Amino acid sequence: MSASVILVAHQKGGAGKTTVAAHLAVALFSRTAKVAVVDSDPQQSLADWHRRRSDYRPRLDDIELHQVSEWRAASEMRRLRRNFDYVVVDSPPHRELSARAGLRNADLMVVPVQPSPMDLWATDSILDLAKRENTPCLVVLNRMPPRGRLSRRVVEIMRDKALPVANTRLGNRQLFASSLMDGLGVSEAAPKSLAAQEIAALCTEIDAIFTANDRAVA
Ligand SMILES: Nc1ncnc2c1ncn2[C@@H]1O[C@H](COP(=O)(O)OP(=O)(O)OP(=O)(O)O)[C@@H](O)[C@H]1O
Ligand SMILES: [Mg+2]
Repeated sequence: MSASVILVAHQKGGAGKTTVAAHLAVALFSRTAKVAVVDSDPQQSLADWHRRRSDYRPRLDDIELHQVSEWRAASEMRRLRRNFDYVVVDSPPHRELSARAGLRNADLMVVPVQPSPMDLWATDSILDLAKRENTPCLVVLNRMPPRGRLSRRVVEIMRDKALPVANTRLGNRQLFASSLMDGLGVSEAAPKSLAAQEIAALCTEIDAIFTANDRAVA
């Protein structure tokens, strides 16, 4: 067994890294995959979520949590790769050095970006780093309003820069936050919701990238 390792990263705080990591992990787990999550953020938000999950619905075969310090994340990713289908890694707002080690051991970096100038400007450096490490990236627009001039402009700028932007966009939806309070993901809390549909679409996009990469390697 060799897992697909997904690093969720952005140097900008509050971009939605932990939110995206948790919901992705649950959606992949709901497809009966063996999933581990790695929390390498001293804030321990993903670990807090997982603790709630274990308290409310303890089950033996659940998503496994691994908490590590930032400097141990890379070796943990290598170790877990052998025992799971997917490993989803949540990271702190990044300093370059630790991001690089994580990137070397990831098959894909998912970068949540909110449609704001600051989030957009902060995206370049993490994407440059991934390019240098030869790690595929997927920028995921997060907390997107249904319409609006600013979000349209952000999308245009990303297109002009030829950034690897996911077709799937995540809306600004309360369910993304409220389900985490119960230790759940949107695909468990409300499988038919728009939020769950968005996360399912994102998983499909991610799997398509892995399949394309496998073909390129073969
Ligand atoms: N799509 C969304 N819809 C609604 N709320 C969201 C969405 N994504 C994130 N949030 C909210 O935005 C805030 C920041 O999200 P989150 O903690 O996941 O970001 P982060 O990048 O992990 O932050 P940090 O850099 O501090 O680790 C949280 O309050 C979260 O509930
Ligand atoms: Mg976080």
